Amino acid sequence: MTVYYKGFPQSDREEYVNMVNVEELEQRVKKIMPEGAYYYIASGSENEWTWRNNTAAFNHFQIVPRALTDMEDPQLDTEFMGMKLKTPVMISPIACHGIAHTKAEIDTQKGAAMAGALFSSSTYANKSVEDIAAAAPDAPRFFQLYLSKDWKFNRMVFDAIKKAGYKGIFLTVDALVSGYREANIRTKFTYPVPLDFFTRYLNGKGEGQSVAQMYASSAQKIGPEDVKRIKEESGLPVFVKGIESVEDAYKAIGAGADGIYVTNHGGRQVDGGPASIDVLPDIAKAVDHRVPIVFDSGVRRGSHVFKALALGADMVGIGRPYLYGLALGGAQGVEAVIDQLDKELKIDMQLTGCKTIEDVKHAAIRHIQYTADNLPSITDPSRMKPYPKTADNQIKTETSDATSGASEA
Ligand code: LAC
Repeated sequence: MTVYYKGFPQSDREEYVNMVNVEELEQRVKKIMPEGAYYYIASGSENEWTWRNNTAAFNHFQIVPRALTDMEDPQLDTEFMGMKLKTPVMISPIACHGIAHTKAEIDTQKGAAMAGALFSSSTYANKSVEDIAAAAPDAPRFFQLYLSKDWKFNRMVFDAIKKAGYKGIFLTVDALVSGYREANIRTKFTYPVPLDFFTRYLNGKGEGQSVAQMYASSAQKIGPEDVKRIKEESGLPVFVKGIESVEDAYKAIGAGADGIYVTNHGGRQVDGGPASIDVLPDIAKAVDHRVPIVFDSGVRRGSHVFKALALGADMVGIGRPYLYGLALGGAQGVEAVIDQLDKELKIDMQLTGCKTIEDVKHAAIRHIQYTADNLPSITDPSRMKPYPKTADNQIKTETSDATSGASEA
């Protein structure tokens, strides 16, 4: 169940993870992952205000249930940049999946492929792009680029990802330096396993480095000209990842971006910034379908996926939840997390008369401020007290005294 890399415990579980919702995986992961690694994944920056609001702010928008829709069996398949996918749920890039599992990105790619989801891997991946691609040769995948100051490094990356069949680039522009992440300071977190591109091209730099050190090895100065240059030199479509304002969406499109990626990096960068879902509607209105929009940050429910699509996203990324799935069940754990969100999304589609993802993109959304908290359900393990057992609240097993209830079919 556990293997060790230089003393760092890595899960090698391969099993479908049963869950009631994806949120509850987080508590289970704590039992199998060292503290520093867990907090690296789970935490946000500074007071984590933006991180918390990312999920809570989905409550600023409401799905309108629809009646008499004369519809059944909604379908989740969708197309994105010419790729055929079974779900609009996407695996957002996260560094170093080796923190969660010994098979790292290889298993994440497998799990994404099993669920028919788009996978994206990071420049800071533990495994090589070749090994990731070999895990699911025909599966669709994108690459998250941390632009290096060294264009020789960048060109080597472009070359490798093209050969490995990556279909496009998410250029990260919101992480020029690391957000102030207190958890990493308190736990003295450094990447515990090698990061392939850094092993290959930078003499093993990566393993043993802090997040701040890793970011320092990437470019801090990125402008519109870089978008053009990356497009030219890679020959791949480039999405600008980390757009949180209308102005920057225009800037990115002006620079030739093939797509906009609305995210605040999972609340890990600027604390005090708005929840990503709150800025999506204005950006989508401004972009006006000229290029596709990818969205992530705070997605934990099928209803969140629904809302993001209805507010203008074409793909909806998840981050932490799939990494917890990976830790708990390898490829099947990743698949299970996507399946869970698909299952919840499908229920919302049936109840709103949306037969297709295209219908969801046109579904009505209300915008009313409510004061109720965004608490988990009353049976969530984090809230539920042991249920009191009394003589009167027990189900009798004898069937003879049944006087009501559903009849046997
Ligand atoms: C992070 C980077 C590496 O947020 O994406 O930790």
